[in-house]
Amino acid sequence: MTNDQRVFDAVITGASRGIGLAFARRALVRGGRVVLCARGEDELSRACAQLEGEFGRARVHAVCCDVADEDEVAILQRESERFFDGAPFAVVNNAGIVERSAVHEMPLSQWNRVLSVNLTGAFLVSKAFLSAMRAAGRGRVVFVSSISGTLGTPRASAYNASKWAMIGLMKSLAEESREANVQAMAVLPGSVDTQMLVGSGFAPQMSADDVAKTIEFVAYDAPAAITGSAIEVFG
Ligand SMILES: NC(=O)c1ccc[n+]([C@@H]2O[C@H](COP(=O)([O-])OP(=O)(O)OC[C@H]3O[C@@H](n4cnc5c(N)ncnc54)[C@H](OP(=O)(O)O)[C@@H]3O)[C@@H](O)[C@H]2O)c1
Repeated sequence: MTNDQRVFDAVITGASRGIGLAFARRALVRGGRVVLCARGEDELSRACAQLEGEFGRARVHAVCCDVADEDEVAILQRESERFFDGAPFAVVNNAGIVERSAVHEMPLSQWNRVLSVNLTGAFLVSKAFLSAMRAAGRGRVVFVSSISGTLGTPRASAYNASKWAMIGLMKSLAEESREANVQAMAVLPGSVDTQMLVGSGFAPQMSADDVAKTIEFVAYDAPAAITGSAIEVFG
């Protein structure tokens, strides 16, 4: 693994399907190594085996991890830094869930579940890798927010609040990390043709790979001056 290839190494949460898996494939095509994370072991193993078959076993590692659990995120961090023999270049906070209720009917448990995965999970995963990225003096943290992070949607207040808040987290992180040469950006997709959209009533506007291409751009190709930006994918 040359230094040039190491700049494509990525930790991707929510990588067992959908947008995360599509981005993992793009990172591998660029020549990087990937650590895939999700909770469901069977689906994660299948995704890992599929990518190992295409790109080789030495370049793919899977860690079963709930991003909302700090102890499990610590294991993700240790295993990733062992696999990469150092810091990843890109951390992609993509794991997410949606649960739908109107505010006046929403149980607190539902609110807490959505916020703990989408927002606290992104905080915990970013925090876990930032020390090594800062010490390396390079890296990018990408937040997969949503166009729902710019507007209100009926019966999706917890989801929308989490996606707005991810953008605030990203912007603060971008300011804190500027001097360390670590950039932070958010990608805000519209309706994507993945499992998450099934039953939502929204028609897909784009493929998972359309979003993966945008993540690829902000993670690898965009200038450092893009830090702090929230990129809408909503055409
Ligand atoms: N689909 C859309 O229309 C759309 C639009 C805008 C933004 N987004 C965002 O894009 C991201 C990816 O969504 P997707 O559309 O690809 O959905 P998806 O197909 O449902 O994939 C979600 C991924 O996240 C994982 N995940 C969920 N909770 C997790 C947790 N607590 N810890 C670790 N992994 C977890 C899932 O695996 P497990 O369930 O096995 O953990 C799965 O790998 C999400 O953040 C979503 O909010 C999606």
